[in-house]
Amino acid sequence: MKLSDIEFYAMNTAWRRLLQRRFEFPLFCRMGLDVHNRDVLEIGCGSGYGAFLLHTQKPRSYVGLDLMPEQIDLARQNYPGYDFRVQSATDLSGFDSASRDVVVIFGVLHHIPAWRRVLDEITCVLRTGGSLFIEEPRGVELKMFDFIFRWGHPDTDFGLKVFERYCSQQGLHLIQKRWTPLLTMYHWQKGGK
Ligand SMILES: C[S@@+](CC[C@H](N)C(=O)[O-])C[C@H]1O[C@@H](n2cnc3c(N)ncnc32)[C@H](O)[C@@H]1O
Repeated sequence: MKLSDIEFYAMNTAWRRLLQRRFEFPLFCRMGLDVHNRDVLEIGCGSGYGAFLLHTQKPRSYVGLDLMPEQIDLARQNYPGYDFRVQSATDLSGFDSASRDVVVIFGVLHHIPAWRRVLDEITCVLRTGGSLFIEEPRGVELKMFDFIFRWGHPDTDFGLKVFERYCSQQGLHLIQKRWTPLLTMYHWQKGGK
């Protein structure tokens, strides 16, 4: 779902970029994120700062998807050389199956009522042994954001417990999980141990 105006504003501040640069991206790297010479797909890429950080590792290819044309317009302005597309993650049929080594998500599934469908699609486009790095808030954190900032998240049944169960059912294996005060961060692997 599209972001409310207030969350759109919050996602495009220097504070958001600082958090992503100083905290979330380094933590993903400590959890094994390394896209050097890999084919990467970022879901819900927003205005492109995640793409910038991922490109510091020199991927073989990168595609960033976002549902909101406003976000993709900003991303293209900010980083003109990168491949950004207006597209919903609920349909990744435009990508060949088993064509991606790494899928990265910085806080997006809790916005998508059909989040299970997104995980089905990700499982399809990932190569065997490929990784999903994903961070999402817990229900209590979402309620806090909505209470304090009035971000107006959609009413979905997304929650970390159901999410974890669904990933396992899809054949994704948990490599590492890190809890932080705002977000829970995961490294899943398709067909891993
Ligand atoms: C909370 S923002 C996070 C943006 C960025 N990843 C970041 O960390 O700053 C969630 C993003 O997911 C996008 N989004 C929501 N539903 C989507 C969908 N079905 N497919 C792709 N992107 C979606 C929104 O447009 C928004 O840019």
